[in-house]
Amino acid sequence: MQEKIKNITPQILKKLKERGEKIALLTAYDYPTALIEDRAGIEVILVGDSLGMVTLGYESTLQVTMQEMLTACKSVKRGAKRAMVIADMPYMSYQPSNSLAIKNAGKFVGEANVDGIKLEGAGPILNRVKAIVNIGIPVMGHIGFTPQSLKKFGNYRVRGKSGEEAEELIQDARTLEDAGVFCIIVECVAEGVVKKIKKKVRVPIYGIGAGNECDGQILVVHDMLGLFPGFLPKYVKKYADLSVTIEDAVKKYIREVKLGKFPDEEYSYH
Ligand code: KIV
Repeated sequence: MQEKIKNITPQILKKLKERGEKIALLTAYDYPTALIEDRAGIEVILVGDSLGMVTLGYESTLQVTMQEMLTACKSVKRGAKRAMVIADMPYMSYQPSNSLAIKNAGKFVGEANVDGIKLEGAGPILNRVKAIVNIGIPVMGHIGFTPQSLKKFGNYRVRGKSGEEAEELIQDARTLEDAGVFCIIVECVAEGVVKKIKKKVRVPIYGIGAGNECDGQILVVHDMLGLFPGFLPKYVKKYADLSVTIEDAVKKYIREVKLGKFPDEEYSYH
């Protein structure tokens, strides 16, 4: 019989990969969502900087601040009892220097009590990864389409379609593993690339728009619940349509208030 897992750690994720067990990751940005996801059995909750777009109405993730991320991480961590909670380090909170990266990663762990942090990219970011791993904080890597580099990429194009781009992705994954990440998110890459990456690295590879070869999948929770009215990429499967459910409920409430039907006997004090 397999042992019941109490808390998800990098070591448990490694074991699950060795067993060939796929894991499910989701984003969350608040206490009630974290509570529900944790209760449902999600293994890893990412407090993504996608929070900027799906909860704050920003145009991109580039406007998200440390303070906004810290507040979200604190509430998610209070709701997640078993899941591993990862904080996405926002734009310019780690790029300028190793010392700034260490200081801000330390805030996520010290103030919000998260279990690890995520950085986007490889190449120039490898030194930041090493510096943060060296002070004992687990780091999740992120390659492929990395939203904080949107202005460099110029668009949301799928990566890894050419042999050259696929090679670059494999190299990025290898160097991130060498730098000490415990897993890598691969976003929006052509099918087949992950299979090649997995031949070269041992850490778990979790995908978003990266096909079915990954060791697990991650989605933005507002996208998969049908709560985000903006553009949805092809890889998003809507598991619910909550914006319709909420709008219907709000309309019903408005109607009942205007007709004097709410509150009735049942909802009044006697
Ligand atoms: O910010 C985010 O939600 C992310 C995921 C899409 C991986 O980085």
